Amino acid sequence: MKPDNNKNILLGLPIEYKKLPEYFDAHNISDDTDVKNSIIEKLLRKQKVNTVLDLTCGTGSQVFFLTKYGYKVIGSDFSPALLEIARKKALKEKLDIKFIDGDMRTLNIGQFDAVITIFNAIGHLTKADFEKAIRNIYKNLKFGGVYIFDIFNLQAMTDAVVHDLRMDLKKTINNTQIHNIQYSIIDRINGFLTSYDSLTIQKNAKILEKFKNEFTLQIYTAKELQNMLIKNGFEIVGQYGMDGSEFLEEKTLNILTVAKKKRNTENFDISRFIDS
Ligand SMILES: C[S@@+](CC[C@H](N)C(=O)[O-])C[C@H]1O[C@@H](n2cnc3c(N)ncnc32)[C@H](O)[C@@H]1O
Repeated sequence: MKPDNNKNILLGLPIEYKKLPEYFDAHNISDDTDVKNSIIEKLLRKQKVNTVLDLTCGTGSQVFFLTKYGYKVIGSDFSPALLEIARKKALKEKLDIKFIDGDMRTLNIGQFDAVITIFNAIGHLTKADFEKAIRNIYKNLKFGGVYIFDIFNLQAMTDAVVHDLRMDLKKTINNTQIHNIQYSIIDRINGFLTSYDSLTIQKNAKILEKFKNEFTLQIYTAKELQNMLIKNGFEIVGQYGMDGSEFLEEKTLNILTVAKKKRNTENFDISRFIDS
């Protein structure tokens, strides 16, 4: 069966991006976070990067990590609620970091050594919108600059893997208990990984609210990502597992891609470099 390109796609978003931003860190930060961030730092160091634009910074996980390593980082995101948390953290830590409201498909704020979108962030875009984002990322990079991002690997999404994505998470934030049961299903034809959340919010054993949420991530094969990037002016530096390991097409759960902005040969005016 062929993918349904005309399917009216409404991907939705995880509940913590807008309605429960105070739950974002509890849900998204784990023991793996520092491992992931240090791999990204190593990849940036290898490319001799100094300036970084994080176009999907959320509450600032990579922004703070990289700033502490001496990179000059600007964070942006399209969720004002998450940016608010990031700004408060910066204030608390007395760090002078700029956080900007913006959409990764359109925000254009200069030319950086690197652009990053980490933790399946591009999965929130349709394929057409991801192409738009790639073209925008190109504009925000210097020639030779790198784009680093990760996304679930469609080829590794066996039924067992999808089953193992199930979560039963209980967290207490400001005396409020948040209980989230999440399970996911996969549509391999279209590359849609859909997750269903059932949330219960309670305070001192009293249930305050119960609700459900559903969102879909557009996921990719490694080859699909390569083709999209090459078509839009990038060359592939490498693809890895999230821990920096060798990428295995049918085994590695996430694809961590490093792509480099090529010189735009069409607009490259060689006469500027030749003495007349
Ligand atoms: C899973 S979170 C990751 C955040 C952060 N990178 C981290 O590792 O904690 C994905 C982020 O992408 C952001 N996002 C999704 N679509 C976006 C878009 N079109 N433009 C900018 N940000 C977007 C969300 O608001 C969210 O903060």
